[in-house]
This record gives sequence, C-alpha cells and structure tokens, in this order.
Amino acid sequence: MSGARRFCPSGPLRGRVRVPSDKSIMQRALVIGALCDGPVEIVTPVWAGDPLTTAGMIADLGVRVDGLNVGTGPAVIHGAGLRGLRAPDRPLNAGNSGTGMRLLAGVLAGQHGRFVLDGDQSLRRRPMGRVVEPLRAMGVRIAAREGQFAPLTITGGSVTPISYRPPVASAQVKSCVLLAGLYCDGETTVAEPLPTRDHTERMLAAAGVPVRCRDATVSLTGVPALHLDRVAVPGDPSSAAFLAAAALVVEGSEIEIADVGLNPTRLGLFEVIRRMGGRVSWEATSSVGGEPRGVLCAAFSRLGAVCVTAQETTAMIDEVTLLGLLASFAEGDTVIHGVRDLRAKESDRLAAIVRILTALGGHAEADEDTLWVQGRRLRGGRIESHGDHRLALLGAVAGLAAPDGVTVDGFAAAGISFPNFAQTLGSVLSS
Ligand code: S3P
Repeated sequence: MSGARRFCPSGPLRGRVRVPSDKSIMQRALVIGALCDGPVEIVTPVWAGDPLTTAGMIADLGVRVDGLNVGTGPAVIHGAGLRGLRAPDRPLNAGNSGTGMRLLAGVLAGQHGRFVLDGDQSLRRRPMGRVVEPLRAMGVRIAAREGQFAPLTITGGSVTPISYRPPVASAQVKSCVLLAGLYCDGETTVAEPLPTRDHTERMLAAAGVPVRCRDATVSLTGVPALHLDRVAVPGDPSSAAFLAAAALVVEGSEIEIADVGLNPTRLGLFEVIRRMGGRVSWEATSSVGGEPRGVLCAAFSRLGAVCVTAQETTAMIDEVTLLGLLASFAEGDTVIHGVRDLRAKESDRLAAIVRILTALGGHAEADEDTLWVQGRRLRGGRIESHGDHRLALLGAVAGLAAPDGVTVDGFAAAGISFPNFAQTLGSVLSS
C-alpha cells in the first residue's frame, strides 16, 4: 500500500462516466451465491480488493467461481447449497474486508466443521464482539482473540433464532444475524437503533426467503434452499460520491454518473449535499433484483454549512469523511452527529478526517460522537491514507480543488473499492 500520488487543481470535470460496481452488493452476491442451489451468474462484477478476498474465501470453502478477476465480464458461482461449504484446513483470509468477515461468520454458523476467519492488521483491530455476541446468543460455538477480535474460530452446527437489538447500527452485524437465521427453525429478528443499508434483505428476498421489513426492524424465517439465477451489480454509489464531490468543488464542472445503485439506504450523502445547496440529482431508471439503479448528476456549487443528524450519518456511513471535506469548502461551520462508529472502520476515520483537514490548512474537531468542520478553503499539502481506501480517494478529491494540490501517500489503497480511479477521473477531466 505504499507509493505516493499527487493530485493538482484541474480544469472542470465534464461528461458521462461509470464507476466500478458496488462492492457491498458484490460481496453479498458472492456469499449468498455460494449458498444457492446451482449456478448464479454475477453480471458486471467488480474485482476490487475486498470482493477478491471474499471470492478467495468462497473458493477455499469449496465453491467454484468461474470468471474470477476477469474484468467486468460475467462471473458464475457454482452454489454449493445452504449447508454445502467445506471446512478448509487453513484459516480463511478476509483481508481488509469487514463485510467479508462478518457476513461469513453468520453463514459458517450453519455449516458442519470448524472454521477460522482471519484478516489483515487493520481487520484484526476492528471490533468483532458485535458479531460474536449475537451468534453466541444463537447457540453458536465461536471464539475470538481476547473475546472480541479476529481471528474468529467458529464450530458450525445448530443455530437457534433470536430477536436481537444491536447496540450499534451496522449493516454487517444485521446481515450476520440474518444469514445465521437462515439455519434456524422459526423467526429471527433484528431491530436496529437506526436503519442501515438493506442489500442483504433485498438479495435474500430475491433468492426466495420470506423477509419482512418494517422501519428499522427486519425478520426472516429459514428456508430449505436458496435460488438465484443472476445478480446484476450496479455502480457503487460510495465510489460515485468521490467523483460527484470533485464536480461539486471544481469550478465549471458538470458530470453524469451512469448505471449507479440508487438504493435509498445509500443516498444519505447526496440528500445532505442538496441541503447544503449542492447541485446533485438522481433518477432511478430501473430496478434489478430489488436494487434500483439509474443516473446521478453533480455540478459545481456554492455550498453552505449544514447540521447532520445521527440518522443521516448512518445513511452515509462510508461518506462521512468526504462530507467533512465538502464542509471545509462550504460557507459556515458544519456539525455532523452520530460519528462514533467511524473509529471502527478500516482506520480510525474520525481521527483521520481531523488530521487530514488540519494538514491541508482547514480546521476540524471531534469529540466522542460529533464532528465539527470549519468552512475554510483548503490550501493543500501531503496526507497519508493509512491503508484506508476512502481516505486515499478523499485526498485525490481535495487535491483537485486545493490551490497547492495534495500528495497522497499510500494511494494504492484506493484499489480496495475503486480500481482504476485515476483513469476514470482522467476520462472526465479537462486539462
Ligand atoms: C457495509 C456496511 C458498513 C460500511 C461498510 C460496508 C456492508 O459497515 O461501512 O463499508 O457492506 O454491509 P458497518 O456495518 O460496520 O456500519
């Protein structure tokens, strides 16, 4: 993840562009596809870092994946059935992916055998107690390093249903419990403190599972088998957000991002940008497998400060640092509530955004659960990604608008979610 890359003020961003497919949906397609009876075609897959490691785990569990890492051509997962995963004789490597580790923990609970789930240094520091606790309550035998960190050791077998109220709003935790619920007789319920992305629910429903959703509560009952013919993965709105943000802060810009996922649980950033006076708009033109998709437009705008609620923060959990950057280009001071869980991401993103904005000549402060950003044009400078893809991409956006440009150390981390970012950006940049 070493290697510096420099981003400098540019001419406007103009034109129409596509972004890589959604890694959240892609990883669910891999995990749920592995449990289906028969082959599942993944249309427009994304082979970014996280999906690749999750596909590697699926393969280690004895599932054949055709077309792995072969561009955007279709891939086929030869599903092994709900209980058909085989225990490998070595640990499964989830790499940098919290989604891969937490979703698979739920699935492995229902398999026969003993499984070890491990990851890279960043993932080993992230809290796994949040899945260990509900899985234990479901009767699963699971051990974690120091009780709450990877590696996780799971001895699969029988699973009993629960009604669970997670203390943190997390789609990964919700998904883990719901996936374990597939192996239960009876109803499994997750009642979240705030609603999170619902891709797992939508995909399981498409695979034939009776899923009931009301507000932030979701229930399902186990089924004998899952069936999915194909999953079409839309463009990743979290990746689109970086290009949209660049268009918002570089004068004269106006871009369209085509074929992007427009699931309402992922649009929090764009809703907030509108409240800031930002010119963003989107229109869903189709829905495939229960996931709406369409076009997202963004244009240069004079932004105003905003106060963001914890519920809004949850609906843009991966974009909060980017909002922090946009806020530093806005008129006035922005307050963002409900940011506590940013400390538990690929890096401590709350500390990171304060450090990065300060290093670039801005000003931000954070306490336990709130981030304040002063609207003050950034000068530019040098930042470090700390191996975190979203921070690397944020540095690139900052560099396009800050007069001195930005050098991003460890820019390669961007490949975790957005392979070929520089080429995609180049395709809409005029010099
Ligand atoms: C994800 C959920 C979110 C998000 C992550 C992807 C998912 O994590 O930050 O990038 O695919 O379910 P949490 O569930 O920890 O909030």
